[in-house]
Amino acid sequence: MIFIAAVVLLVILVLLLYYFITKDYSYWASKGVPYDKPFLIFGSFWNIVTGKEHLAQRIRSIYNQHKTPYFGIYVFHQPNLVIRSPELIRKVMVKDFDKFKDRNAFSNESIDPLNFHSLFGAKDTTWRNLRSKLSPVFTSGKIKLMFPLMVDCANDLSAHLEKLNGKTVEMGNVLKRYSVDIISSCAFGINANCFKTENSEILVMATRLLDFRSLSRSLSMFCAFFLPKVMYIFRLTFADQTAAKFLVDVFKGALREREEKKIVRNDLIDLLNNLKKNESFDDSYKFDDIKMAAQAITFFSAGNDSSSITLSFAFYELALHKEVQDRLRREIRATLDKEKDLTYESIHNIKYLDMVLSEVLRKYPLTALINRQPSENYTFEETGFTLEKHITVIIPITGLHFDPEHFPDPEKFDPERFSDENKRNIKSYTYLPFGEGPRSCIGQRFALLMSKLAIAYVIKDYAVEPTNQTSIPMKYNPRYPFTQSKDGVHLRIVKV
Ligand code: HEM
Ligand SMILES: *[C@@H]1O[C@H](CO)[C@@H](O)[C@H](O)[C@H]1NC(C)=O
Ligand SMILES: *[C@@H]1O[C@H](CO)[C@@H](O)[C@H](O)[C@H]1NC(C)=O
Ligand SMILES: *[C@@H]1O[C@H](CO)[C@@H](O)[C@H](O)[C@H]1NC(C)=O
Ligand SMILES: *[C@@H]1O[C@H](CO)[C@@H](O)[C@H](O)[C@H]1NC(C)=O
Ligand SMILES: *[C@@H]1O[C@H](CO)[C@@H](O)[C@H](O)[C@H]1NC(C)=O
Repeated sequence: MIFIAAVVLLVILVLLLYYFITKDYSYWASKGVPYDKPFLIFGSFWNIVTGKEHLAQRIRSIYNQHKTPYFGIYVFHQPNLVIRSPELIRKVMVKDFDKFKDRNAFSNESIDPLNFHSLFGAKDTTWRNLRSKLSPVFTSGKIKLMFPLMVDCANDLSAHLEKLNGKTVEMGNVLKRYSVDIISSCAFGINANCFKTENSEILVMATRLLDFRSLSRSLSMFCAFFLPKVMYIFRLTFADQTAAKFLVDVFKGALREREEKKIVRNDLIDLLNNLKKNESFDDSYKFDDIKMAAQAITFFSAGNDSSSITLSFAFYELALHKEVQDRLRREIRATLDKEKDLTYESIHNIKYLDMVLSEVLRKYPLTALINRQPSENYTFEETGFTLEKHITVIIPITGLHFDPEHFPDPEKFDPERFSDENKRNIKSYTYLPFGEGPRSCIGQRFALLMSKLAIAYVIKDYAVEPTNQTSIPMKYNPRYPFTQSKDGVHLRIVKV
C-alpha cells in the first residue's frame, strides 16, 4: 500500500516537473513564429546534452533547417529568438543598440562582484561607464606601446620551438603558454615565465580559473550563459573563486610595487592606475581595488583562451594546406628582407597574414553565438512581430559563417575569400568573429596583433606538418562551449 502510494506520488511529481518545464513550449506557436520543435525538457539542445553535437554544430543545424528571417527555439524551457537576416542583425547590434545593450548573462553584485564589474558580464549603466573608461586603454596607440612586451613573448615562443625541432607537439599547450605570458605581461605587469618553468603558479591558477575539465566549472559556465536563474539559486560564480582570489592578490601586489618603485611599463596596470588617478570627485563610476581586479581578470580569461584557441586552428589549417603556408612564409620573409625585425607597422602590412587569420576566424569562430537581451518590448517593423522583453535574441555566428550563400563551399579553408578584391563582396553582418556594434570585442586589435605576431614568428622559421596523431577532420570538445579541438592539435615542427 505504502509502496503504491509512493509510486503514485513520484509519478505525479515527475509529471508536475515535466509540466512546469514544458509549459512554455506553446510560446512560439501562440506568437505565430516558425520554430524548432523542442525535445523533452531539452528544447533544441538534446544533441548537445548527449554529446552528439557541439554547440557550434547545433547552431549550424538549426540555422540550416529554418530559412525565415527569424525563428524561435527553446533553450531548455526558455523561448529564444534566432535572427538569420543580416538586415535584422544590423538593427539589433547597431541601429537599435540602445534597446539591446545587455547580454543574457548572469550578473549579481553580491554573489559575484568580479563578474558584475567585468565588461563582459556588466549590464546597463555599469557597462556603459566601464566601456567608456576602458575604450581608451585599447586604442591602437596604446596597443602599440604594448608591442615590445609582446615581441619578448614571441621570442620565447620561438626559442621554445627550437628545442622541439623535429618533434610532434601539441600546439594548444605551447600556445597557451604564449598567451598566458602575453596577458600576464600586458595585464598584470609580471613575467609569468611559462616557457621556462614547467608549472608556473600563474599558469596553474589561470588554468583553474575557467577550467572546463572540472565538471562544476563547466556547469557554472553553462548556467551563466543559458540558465542564469540557477546561478542565483545556488550562488554559483562564473570563475573559480580560489583562482580568482589568487589573481586579485597578484594584481594588487603589482599595483603596490608600481606605486612604491615608480615603475612605468605602459601596460594595463599603468593604464588603469592612470584612470583611477584621473577620476574626478563626482565621477559616477569609481574604480576601487575589486573593480580594477575585475578588469584584469576579465582580460585574463578573455585573452588567454581566445587567442590560443584561434592560433591552434591557424596552425592546424596551415599544416593541412602546405601551399598556403609556403606563400605565407615567402611574404613574411620578403618583409623581413626590407627591415631587420617585424615592427608594429610591418606586421600590419603583410596582407596574406591578415587573409589567413581572417579565414581562420571565419571557419573557427570562438563563439558559436552571441546573445542580446532587449530592454523593452521591441517591434520588428518589417513584420509587425513584437519581441517581448524577456526573450533573448541569438545571433547564430556559426550558421552565418557556414552559409553557402554568404561563403560558397564553406567547409573549404580559403584565405582568398579575404583578398582586397573578394572582401568587398562579403555581405555586412554575415562575418562576425568579434561581434559588432558598441558591445563588440574590446580586445579585437590586441587579439589580432598577438595572433599575427605568433604566426609570423613561428612560420618564418618553422614548417608545421600533420602527423599520424593529427585528427582529421577536426573534432570539437563537446563539453566546451567555445570551439576547441577535442584531441588537441598535434603537429610536427621542422626548422626550415
Ligand atoms: C581571437 C581572439 C578573440 C575573439 C575571437 C573574441 C571574440 C569576442 C566576441 C565574439 C565577443 C562578443 C561580442 C559581442 O557580443 O558582440 C567578445 C567580447 C569581449 N572580448 Fe573578445 N575575443 C578575442 C580576444 C579578446 C582579447 C584578447 C580580449 C582582452 C584583451 C578580449 C576581451 C573581450 C571583452 C572584455 C569582451 C566584452 C565586451 C563588452 O561586453 O563590452 N577579447 N570577444
Ligand atoms: C543578488 O543576489 C542577492 C542574494 O541572493 C539577492 O538578495 C539580490 O536581490 C540579488 N540582486 C539582484 C539585482 O538580483
Ligand atoms: C587558458 O587556456 C587554457 C587552454 O585553453 C585553459 O585550459 C584555461 O582554462 C584558460 N584559462 C583562462 C583563465 O581562461
Ligand atoms: C588625465 O586626463 C588628462 C586629460 O584627459 C590627460 O591629459 C592626463 O594625461 C591624464 N592624467 C593621467 C595621469 O592619465
Ligand atoms: C510587452 O508585451 C506583452 C505581451 O505582448 C504585454 O503583456 C506587456 O504589457 C508589454 N509590456 C510593455 C512594457 O509594453
Ligand atoms: C605514427 O608514426 C610513427 C613513426 O612515423 C610510428 O612509430 C607510430 O607507431 C605511428 N603511430 C600510429 C598510431 O600509427
